[in-house]
Amino acid sequence: MSGITLGDRSAPRPAGGFSLFLRRWMANPLQMGSVVPSSPALGRRVAALVERQGDEVVVELGAGTGAISRALLAGGVPPERLVVVEIVPEMARHLARSLPGVTVIEGDAFALSEALPAALHGKVGTAICGIPLVLLPTEQQRRFVAAVESVAPGRGFLLYTYCATSPLPYRKLGLTARREAWTPLNLPPASVWRYRPAG
Ligand SMILES: C[S@@+](CC[C@H](N)C(=O)[O-])C[C@H]1O[C@@H](n2cnc3c(N)ncnc32)[C@H](O)[C@@H]1O
Repeated sequence: MSGITLGDRSAPRPAGGFSLFLRRWMANPLQMGSVVPSSPALGRRVAALVERQGDEVVVELGAGTGAISRALLAGGVPPERLVVVEIVPEMARHLARSLPGVTVIEGDAFALSEALPAALHGKVGTAICGIPLVLLPTEQQRRFVAAVESVAPGRGFLLYTYCATSPLPYRKLGLTARREAWTPLNLPPASVWRYRPAG
């Protein structure tokens, strides 16, 4: 099931959502991957790597409580050009309340071609992954890569991670990999990798 909501422009912004994050981690640690939301420092690193032209959108997959989303907005992505996808309904509702003007999709990133409105297919400048792909088997990672490719052909995606080396077996997945940023100011220290389809 997936639903689309727009951030409520008039609603007051709820605070950080840390307790929601922690509760979801206790409910499903593998789906969350981390016990704490990403830091503003990591958000800034991710925002600095965004590529977007004209009417293209930035799509964030696994937005959680919006730590990276807020950094993307602060970094200059217009709210109407930011689309966030989150599989947990309670978190999607939190995002819709706290991110005015942003398109919030309650849905599964692995079924991105169905979750993302058809009008945005081929209009994705940058896809950003917050889902802990490193914890998944290669076959599921392959499904993720195919899901992104179906809406953003040739563009690849950014992935932030606590791994010192590539969290994905990129050659097996038909990707090139480049570590483009690192910050010690995250708990734990984190890197941002850019993956693109090889050849
Ligand atoms: C590590 S948290 C990242 C949250 C936030 N982006 C941050 O940096 O603080 C991973 C998020 O991905 C979401 N998620 C996991 N699997 C997903 C899927 N298949 N589709 C969409 N979101 C998913 C989880 O519910 C969780 O909110």
